[in-house]
Amino acid sequence: MKAIVIEKQGGLDQINLVEVPLPEVKPDEILIKLTFAGINFVDIYERMGVYPIPLPFILGKEGVGTIINKGERVKQFSLGERVGFAYVTGGSYSEYIAINAEHAVALPPEVDDVIAASCLLQGLTSYFLTHDTFHLQPGHTALIHAAAGGVGLLTVQMAKLLGAKVIGTVSTARKLKLAEEAGADYLIRYDEKDFVKGVMHWTEGVGVDVVYDSVGATTFTRSFEVLKNRGTIVSFGQSSGVIPPIDLNSRLGNRTQQRGSFYVTRPVIRHYIDNQEALKFKTNALFNYIIQGKIRILVGNQYTLENCRQAHQDLENRLTLGKSILKII
Ligand SMILES: NC(=O)c1ccc[n+]([C@@H]2O[C@H](COP(=O)([O-])OP(=O)(O)OC[C@H]3O[C@@H](n4cnc5c(N)ncnc54)[C@H](OP(=O)(O)O)[C@@H]3O)[C@@H](O)[C@H]2O)c1
Repeated sequence: MKAIVIEKQGGLDQINLVEVPLPEVKPDEILIKLTFAGINFVDIYERMGVYPIPLPFILGKEGVGTIINKGERVKQFSLGERVGFAYVTGGSYSEYIAINAEHAVALPPEVDDVIAASCLLQGLTSYFLTHDTFHLQPGHTALIHAAAGGVGLLTVQMAKLLGAKVIGTVSTARKLKLAEEAGADYLIRYDEKDFVKGVMHWTEGVGVDVVYDSVGATTFTRSFEVLKNRGTIVSFGQSSGVIPPIDLNSRLGNRTQQRGSFYVTRPVIRHYIDNQEALKFKTNALFNYIIQGKIRILVGNQYTLENCRQAHQDLENRLTLGKSILKII
C-alpha cells in the first residue's frame, strides 16, 4: 500500500510517499480502507519533531473509510461498515490503517466521508474545550485566537450555541469574513492591531472570562492582559511556536489590584476522550449538531497523498481556511 512515511523528523522534504506492507490485524483491531484523512496541525508538530516519536512512522491521526477486515475479538463492527477515527497513532496518510476498534466510531448516513474526515478531531476538540475545559454559558465572553482555522471556526460556532459572546482574532480580511459568518460578535485583525487593546476596548475594560489560545508563542503571554478577574487561559496549541515559561507569581497572582488569581490549563484531547464511552457520547453530540444544522463544517482545501507536501506548506504558512483533508481514493 502507499503511505506517507517519515524516516527522519524535519522539513517538508521529509514527506515521502512510499510503498509499505499492508498492516497486520491484531485481535482487537479493524483494518480500514481509507477514503479521506484529516490534516491537522499536530501532523506538522509530529513531522517537525516538536513531539518525539519512534521512527519511522506514518503521518496522520484522523481518517474515515470502510472496514475490510477485523480481529476475532471485535464484536461491535461488521465488515463493510463506514467508520471514522479522530486520534490514533497508526498513521492515516495511507491507503489502509489497522486501529484498535475502541478508537473507531460508526458514521451515520447523514454524515458523508468528506464531512466526517473534516469534523472529528477538530470538532471533538472544540466540543471538549467549550463544554468541559471551560464550560461556556450565557453571560460569558470568550476570546478565540485563530478564529477562522479548523478548530477556530468550530469553537466560534459552539461558543455561540452555548450562549457566550465571542471575540475572535484572525490575520486576513477573508478569514475575518468567515469568522463573522460563523457568528463571532467582534473580530480583531491581530496582524495589524494590538489584540489586547481591541479586547479591552470592546469589553469596556472588563476583559474576558476565557481565552482559547492555540497560537502559542505570539499570543500566550499577552493573553493574560485581557482576562477578567479569575479568568482562564486554555492553552491548547502552539501553531506560532512553543510558549515561553510563565512565572506564577507575576502572571497569575498579582497582576493588578482588580484583576488576578488567573487559571491556566493545557488540555489535550486524549485526557478528555480517554475511553470508548466518552468518544461515543461526544461524537454523537457533534454529529447531532451537524445533522441538525447547528454547526457548519467548512471544508477548505482537498489534497492527495501525492501533493501532501503542499498541504503541510499551506497549513504552516497560514494559507488554509477551515479544514484541509487528503483524498485517498
Ligand atoms: N490540545 C488538543 O487536543 C488539540 C486538538 C486539535 C488541535 N489543537 C491545536 O489547535 C490549533 C489549531 O489546529 P488546526 O489543525 O485547526 O489548525 P488551524 O487553526 O487551521 O491553522 C493554524 C492557524 O493558526 C494561526 N497562526 C498564527 N500564527 C501562526 C504561525 N506562525 N504559523 C502558523 N499558523 C499560525 C493561523 O491563523 P491566522 O492566520 O488567522 O493567525 C493558522 O491558520 C493547533 O495549534 C493545534 O495544535 C490542539
